[in-house]
Amino acid sequence: MGIQPSNRSGRRQRAARRGSAALSGLFWLLALALFVAPFLRARDDIGSYANDFTRDTVADSETDKLDVPFADDVANYEREFGPGLAAHIAAASEHYFGLESPWLRDTGSVEFLRIPSGQQNFEIHCVGCHGAIGDGGGPAARYLKPRPRSFRKGLFKFTSTDAASRPQRRDLFQTITRGLAGSSMPEFRLVNEEKRWDLVEYVRWLAMKGEFEHMMLDDAWENEELPDAAELSAIVVARWHPANLRPIFPGVNETPNDAASVERGTRLFNAAAKGSCYSCHGERGKGDGPTALDYEDDWGYPIRPRDLSAGTFRAGAEGVDLYRTIAAGIKGTPMGSFEGALTPQEIWDLVHFIQSLSKQESPK
Ligand code: HEC
Ligand code: HEC
Repeated sequence: MGIQPSNRSGRRQRAARRGSAALSGLFWLLALALFVAPFLRARDDIGSYANDFTRDTVADSETDKLDVPFADDVANYEREFGPGLAAHIAAASEHYFGLESPWLRDTGSVEFLRIPSGQQNFEIHCVGCHGAIGDGGGPAARYLKPRPRSFRKGLFKFTSTDAASRPQRRDLFQTITRGLAGSSMPEFRLVNEEKRWDLVEYVRWLAMKGEFEHMMLDDAWENEELPDAAELSAIVVARWHPANLRPIFPGVNETPNDAASVERGTRLFNAAAKGSCYSCHGERGKGDGPTALDYEDDWGYPIRPRDLSAGTFRAGAEGVDLYRTIAAGIKGTPMGSFEGALTPQEIWDLVHFIQSLSKQESPK
């Protein structure tokens, strides 16, 4: 994605700001420590506490990595190249992705009728974790691991589409309906179905708008001038248009889940040539492969390969769910798509192997 403006000149200023804030807030920090203590254990895995629009970033002492918020990064740009970017992005975002935008209406990429209810329900059920603008920075976010998703990169993990495609509506619908097991993302089965589709549409809109704003910022850093909003907005809506999403289907119906299939799956899982699942997940899928500690996700947080023997799968534990996960991969993480690299038969063998791991673990 070209230049990552993450560690630019803002680092020193932020460090200074953090220093003075920490001093003046010492009393409160001490008081807060009592409250926060139970969560601190997970802190090294959480990474930094930043999100797009808040400015009180906190460095991760382990990795010394800063997740530079959007607003800071725009300010850094203006310090270096002169003013204008913030106003330019705000105006363009309103013009192209505002809810009054005739342009966006004409693209057909958003179902506008669903937006008001989507917004209302998002404010009721989602802002506490995902934040009002969908940057993953709600008040509860800093205590959660994994962190609530920022939608503003346009990137979603659990999809039924190929690596280059944005998610389908029904992928987001499934996530909202079933939740993500093993994370704090709750299921919303009790919210009526139409309202869940409204939420899907609202999340899509937040994601498009955020993706556009981030693209404008990245483009500005790359070319050192104000970006062409018309060109970038067209790219974003095209990416999200349903006609441009390429779904992944199981190439064949589920093959028999028998000992022979599990045996083939075991060998495949541990074969260096094909997928090399073991390198991340470990020979028996415990999440302890040789490279297990090496990764970070596209949102800038450390990420571990899943312990597959625990039987908890965010995107579902049914055969079709696991097939989809292996074929489509988990976007924004080191877990790539294996469609094409593996035959459908091979993917089913891996599914059966993975399912056998948690069967063995569970009590008889
Ligand atoms: C208690 C906190 C919490 C609440 C409330 C919550 N979420 Fe989430 N959500 C999460 C977490 C944590 C993740 C990331 C899980 C992961 O990374 O595997 C997530 C991820 C997601 C994703 C991304 C899935 C993907 O494929 O990347 C979507 C979409 C989503 N949430 C929508 C919603 C909507 C819509 C609501 C309200 C109806 C909501 N969430 C409420 C915590 C929450
Ligand atoms: C480069 C490292 C890497 C490789 C290689 C890899 N994975 Fe993963 N895998 C991950 C990571 C990281 C996650 C956790 C992603 C997350 O937290 O959302 C994961 C998660 C999973 C999940 C859990 C999905 C869920 O719904 O929770 C399954 C199943 C899985 N991998 C299967 C495989 C199989 C099968 C292979 C080989 C074909 C493979 N992985 C290869 C890194 C890898």
